[in-house]
Amino acid sequence: MTVRVPGKVNLQLSVGPLRDDGYHDLVNVFHAVSLFDEVSAVESETLTVRVEGDSAGLVPLDGDNLAIRAARALAARAGRPYGAELVIRKSIPVAGGMAGGSADAAAALVACDRLWGLGLPQRDLLDIAADLGSDVPFALLGGTAVGTGRGEMLTPLPVQGTFFWVFALADGGLSTPQVYGECDRLREAAGERACWPALSGQLAAALRDGDAPGLGKALVNDLQPAAIMLRRSLARTLQVGRDRGALGVLVSGSGPTCAFLAESAEHALDLSVALRSACRAVVNAYGPVPGAVVV
Ligand code: C5P
Repeated sequence: MTVRVPGKVNLQLSVGPLRDDGYHDLVNVFHAVSLFDEVSAVESETLTVRVEGDSAGLVPLDGDNLAIRAARALAARAGRPYGAELVIRKSIPVAGGMAGGSADAAAALVACDRLWGLGLPQRDLLDIAADLGSDVPFALLGGTAVGTGRGEMLTPLPVQGTFFWVFALADGGLSTPQVYGECDRLREAAGERACWPALSGQLAAALRDGDAPGLGKALVNDLQPAAIMLRRSLARTLQVGRDRGALGVLVSGSGPTCAFLAESAEHALDLSVALRSACRAVVNAYGPVPGAVVV
């Protein structure tokens, strides 16, 4: 059983006040892009995981592995000690702000649900996914959706057409809790109070109308200053894309991957050539694409 699952870029990541549970209330517009991991599950007595592909060595194989935790949570919901051998083939950057770990967890849920013949309804899988992490439910759904709460309460957004993206991958990852912590610290130092976030009308209209220039202008990520503070080189990478006429540029999620919106597939190629010397690697992708699907 093999499941293909996309990474995401956040088109709007508006960070509200810190909650008592350590999370922030968000308005988080997720957009699934054609950069895919694959997760295979085959029958086994025990639950194990193996990772192949780019940066595989950076993925934890112990109890911190989100795919294993997903399979375990699904077995617990089914009330049986099921086993599986999971193999993850990675293309989504590890700790890159594109929710690769969350994607693998979503894919493991879908793969094990099929392998074990459970046939749980999607709302049950979404429920388990939300317990695993704020970004996991979206990886099941895909497309473009706005997440509220800590990002797990999803409403799909209407989108016309396809948007072309270039992603600049950085060396090493950034820790999501650390980036949120830095965002709080910067706000406090500036005497800013986090306000209650709302979905950008300009962003929603641009998506609905397939208006790439409008979308480029509406892109926003409140975590970007924090990510740049922790990784100064990102400022230069973003500037290269701006200079080359990207319609919009931003750090993806908590970074350090940077995302560039292109006018067309041809413009994306031009951008990717220009960005090659400003980062570790460049990948082109389009969105939106569906969430985790059996292949
Ligand atoms: O939900 P997830 O485990 O992916 O979150 C990782 C970390 O990111 C959390 O422990 C928290 O520090 C931060 N976070 C946050 N507010 C959110 C989502 C994540 O502060 N809405």
